[in-house]
Amino acid sequence: MRNKIVAGNWKMNKNMAGTDALLAELSAKLPNTHAKVMVSPTFVNLAGAVRQLEGSEIEVISQNMHFAESGAYTGEISADMLLDIGIKTVILGHSERRAYFGETDEILKKKVEAALANNMTVMFCFGEELQDRKSGNHFSVVESQLKNALFDLDPSAWSSIILAYEPVWAIGTGETASPEQAQEMHAFIRKTIATAFDQTIADNVSILYGGSVKPSNAEEIFSKPDVDGGLIGGAALAADDFIAIIKAI
Ligand code: PGA
Repeated sequence: MRNKIVAGNWKMNKNMAGTDALLAELSAKLPNTHAKVMVSPTFVNLAGAVRQLEGSEIEVISQNMHFAESGAYTGEISADMLLDIGIKTVILGHSERRAYFGETDEILKKKVEAALANNMTVMFCFGEELQDRKSGNHFSVVESQLKNALFDLDPSAWSSIILAYEPVWAIGTGETASPEQAQEMHAFIRKTIATAFDQTIADNVSILYGGSVKPSNAEEIFSKPDVDGGLIGGAALAADDFIAIIKAI
C-alpha cells in the first residue's frame, strides 16, 4: 500500500536560526499521524537539521542534487554528500528548477538515475503551465514529463519514487487546482504508470499534490482517492499551518 506523505518545500527560506526555530516548533507540536512528514531546509542547514531531528519521525530531505558523483561542478552537491550527512530523499524536477535553472527532462533523467543508483528516494515533481491547461494540453505535457524522465527505469526502481504533481499555475499563486482537477490528473497519472509498467506499481506509488495547499483547502484535496498527500511551499514555513495540514491528512 502506498504511503501518505506531507512534505514541506522550504525553498530559499530560513537561515540557521530560523531553521532551528521552525524545526523545534514542528517537533513540539507534531501530531500523531499515519503520514510520513518531511521537511527540506536549504543545503547549508541540512546537516544541522538532521542532527536536530535525530530520533524524530520527521525526515529531512534535500531540495536538489547534481547527477555527477563528484568533480568540477562549481556550486553543486552530490548524492554521496547528501547520504554522508544522513539525507536519503531528494526532491527533483521542481518547476522552479526547470524554469529558472534550465533543468530539462534530459538532465532530470540523469539526476533521477543518479539518486536511485545511490539508493536514495526521489520525490519527482512535474506539472503543466497555465497555457498548457488553457489549450487542453495538460495531460499530454504531464505524460511526456513522466515518460522522458522515468519510463526507462527498471520496474523495481518505483519503490523508491514519490511523485508530486504541481501545476505551475498553482505554485505560490494562491490559486489551487480544485480537488476535482487534482483527482482527475492524479487518476490520469496512475493510469499512465499502469499502462507503461503495471497496475501494482501504479497502485503503490504515492502521488502528492502541490500548489497553494493551505490549512483551509488541505482536507478537501487530501480526501480525493488518488491524492496521497501534499508538497507544501509557503504554508510549510509557519509551524501552525504545516501542523494543520498534517492533521488534515
Ligand atoms: P506553494 O509551493 O505551496 O507555495 O504553492 C508548492 C511548491 O512549490 O512545492
